[in-house]
Amino acid sequence: MKFFVDSADTREIQIAVEMGCIDGVTTNPSLLAKVGRPLEATIREIAALIDGPISAECISTQAEAMVKEGVALSALHPNVVVKIPMGVEGLKATRALAGKGIATNVTLVFSPLQALLCAKAGASFVSPFVGRLDDIGQEGMEMVRQTVAIFDNYGFATEVLVASVRNPIHVLHAALAGAHVATLPLAVLKQLSEHPLTTLGIERFLADWEKVPKA
Ligand code: G3P
Repeated sequence: MKFFVDSADTREIQIAVEMGCIDGVTTNPSLLAKVGRPLEATIREIAALIDGPISAECISTQAEAMVKEGVALSALHPNVVVKIPMGVEGLKATRALAGKGIATNVTLVFSPLQALLCAKAGASFVSPFVGRLDDIGQEGMEMVRQTVAIFDNYGFATEVLVASVRNPIHVLHAALAGAHVATLPLAVLKQLSEHPLTTLGIERFLADWEKVPKA
């Protein structure tokens, strides 16, 4: 499973890249607002940090404007993936951009049937938001499992990119479900590396090393 880091903060992305387990980056308007930097400059800076897919989101809400925006975003760097919000206009834009050979990531997907439409429209990635479904009492990971099964049934090339990941359990179940990608906040990525018994074991080894005679 590929790990993307879900951030527009180049400092966070640098840390994730140095951990040696990141394959790409996803951004969105909320993540950009957090860092307070312009989209174009941020995407260029991210592209200099990692050689992998970088999702940059359209703001337009009508297909024609989305396509125009998507063409401009894809011109920023060859690794840019154009993020398109799900909906009829988004599907039209996804189909048009696919026809131009431009990679797309359809976002704000909350059902397997939305995901199925994205695959049929030629999306490169589809982003089911598991955390936000959990927030309203629906099991987000069940939607991922159903989406992966549907895509496998029909051999769609579209990759399931699990988003709105809030904790390591989401990552575990995304991997068990056979999702292609999980996009993680840096905090969650770091959590994956930690375990209390690892910490205790290191402390014990260090303490015991003090008892080892030194040459
Ligand atoms: O990539 C989507 C992600 O940034 C949304 O996360 O926690 O706001 O649902 P969240």
